Amino acid sequence: MRKLLPFMKKYMRYAILCPILMVLEVIADIAIPYLMSLIVDVGIANRDINYVIKIGSIMIFAALLGMTFGIISSYYGATAGFGFSAEIRKTVFKKVQSYSFSNLDKFSVSSLITRLTNDCNMLGQVAMMSLRMAVRAPFMMIFALIMALSINAPLASVFMIAIPVTVVLLGIIMVKARPIFIKMQSRVDRVNAIIQENLIGIRVVKSFNRQTHEENRFKERNDSLRDTALKAISTIMFLFPVLTIVTYATIIAVLWFGGKQVVSGSMGSGELVSFITYITQILMSLMMLSFFFMQLLRGSASAARIVEVLETDSEILEDVNPVTEIKNGSVSFNNVSFAYPLSAEKALKNINLEIKPGETIGIIGSTGSSKSTLVQLIPRLYDASEGSVSVGGVNVKKYNIKTLRDKVAFVLQKNVLFSGTIRENMKWGNENATDEQIINALKQSQAWEFVSKYNDTLDYKVEQGGDNFSGGQKQRLTIARALIKSPKIIILDDSTSAVDITTDAKIQRTFKEELEDITTIIIAQRISSIQHSDRILVMNEGEIVSIGSHEELMINSPIYNEIYESQQKGVVG
Ligand SMILES: Nc1ncnc2c1ncn2[C@@H]1O[C@H](COP(=O)(O)OP(=O)(O)OP(=O)(O)O)[C@@H](O)[C@H]1O
Ligand SMILES: [Mg+2]
Repeated sequence: MRKLLPFMKKYMRYAILCPILMVLEVIADIAIPYLMSLIVDVGIANRDINYVIKIGSIMIFAALLGMTFGIISSYYGATAGFGFSAEIRKTVFKKVQSYSFSNLDKFSVSSLITRLTNDCNMLGQVAMMSLRMAVRAPFMMIFALIMALSINAPLASVFMIAIPVTVVLLGIIMVKARPIFIKMQSRVDRVNAIIQENLIGIRVVKSFNRQTHEENRFKERNDSLRDTALKAISTIMFLFPVLTIVTYATIIAVLWFGGKQVVSGSMGSGELVSFITYITQILMSLMMLSFFFMQLLRGSASAARIVEVLETDSEILEDVNPVTEIKNGSVSFNNVSFAYPLSAEKALKNINLEIKPGETIGIIGSTGSSKSTLVQLIPRLYDASEGSVSVGGVNVKKYNIKTLRDKVAFVLQKNVLFSGTIRENMKWGNENATDEQIINALKQSQAWEFVSKYNDTLDYKVEQGGDNFSGGQKQRLTIARALIKSPKIIILDDSTSAVDITTDAKIQRTFKEELEDITTIIIAQRISSIQHSDRILVMNEGEIVSIGSHEELMINSPIYNEIYESQQKGVVG
């Protein structure tokens, strides 16, 4: 938690004022029972109405003052707490934005969402409580104890028994509850994880009719959360009754011994009443403190998870003196091997490949043959585990990352659009793109065909993820978005799989005729999408097994022939 303290900096003023005001509130709260005892023992005993009115007014004033301090303190506490969590959230969000693909693989998206939402909220609450409860309880205890001692020191010896007994009882309960609370936190995480996974993929769940399956999976986790929460609550359930018993026992003891003193005249009855109030205040503070520790416990789990995110740096590091210009669109792989972060197996083995500027390369191979993996190394979405990848004759690690990604446009296999308008989405490629440039790119990717039919063309609304477009429309829009970058290299990872064959052919033709200077790498399942490429790579189990033109491969690649045959059959049969 200490590592998160700097996030409080901006709200330091509130974080300092809140406990100070809290202490003032406590002083008022402590003064009231004392003033009351004066009213009873002095005012009423002497039938001095003026004294009663005077002290009574002071009492009301103290109560009002205490209330005001309390309200302002709460407000400052909330400001500091919410501000603190907002600062953390902002920084964590920024950090996550800087993450590389391999960082994301390690954390998983749903866990990052939980950290950004629940954990940040939790920390805000704990901060707020630390500023209030953690200050109020000890001060209350100390002041009340001092007051009790000053009223009647011998009688205050009951605390010698009451406080240790309470501390021990609270201690036992806390020790028992601690592991259950930690377990509960992890159960909450499991429920959150499944909720996020399901909502992100809700359409898939529905289309596969997996609702029942998912509901059962959810029920299992939800039930286990309920049971753990119940267990946690039943453990601390005893807290309150136990404390009440201790309080009453103490009160009885005080009434017994104090009562005798009142009868003998050595103690005022008002003093006895206020003494009892102080007992309650002390024991309540102990309870508050234990509740605070419980929250602190849950907060520390959240803090650990936030710190983990903050301390993880992007695995893609930029060179100290990065190259900011890419000479040409050539690509070379030198003895490249690659394994995914959490996987022991190599996804790419010993890749050697030279691509000339302006060349069109097709990549084909069965699913899972590492086609996507291969091309992801070019814009440094991942770094090669062994060997090196170069663009324009320079190792990709030497480039300024922004330059590299601007010049290597990558249309991801799992691509998304963002909520906003079509124009806004297109501007992701280039903030300064004019409508003319956008329309031109849309024409090149054959998207203008349908965009031009909308009444509000470029202002047409895109829903979250681009869910209001068909698969093929979405693909064409994402290709246009990549073209707007005016890249030197463009990579289309299965980007026309949902586009009909005629439109696909039109896109290929545009690339060949209008965009011939751009190095184009096309991954496809259909041979027709890559047939006219200058060269075609055939991949199998992480290796390039053949390279050549369509005609060459038809002669000497059995795998290529097999794919070709199966697709021909598909067409004929
Ligand atoms: N993020 C990841 N973490 C771990 N393993 C991964 C990851 N992405 C892919 N893999 C694994 O790497 C191998 C190659 O996957 P890749 O996505 O490159 O295949 P592909 O040829 O593009 O397949 P497809 O034609 O289905 O798109 C597969 O065995 C896959 O399980
Ligand atoms: Mg792929």
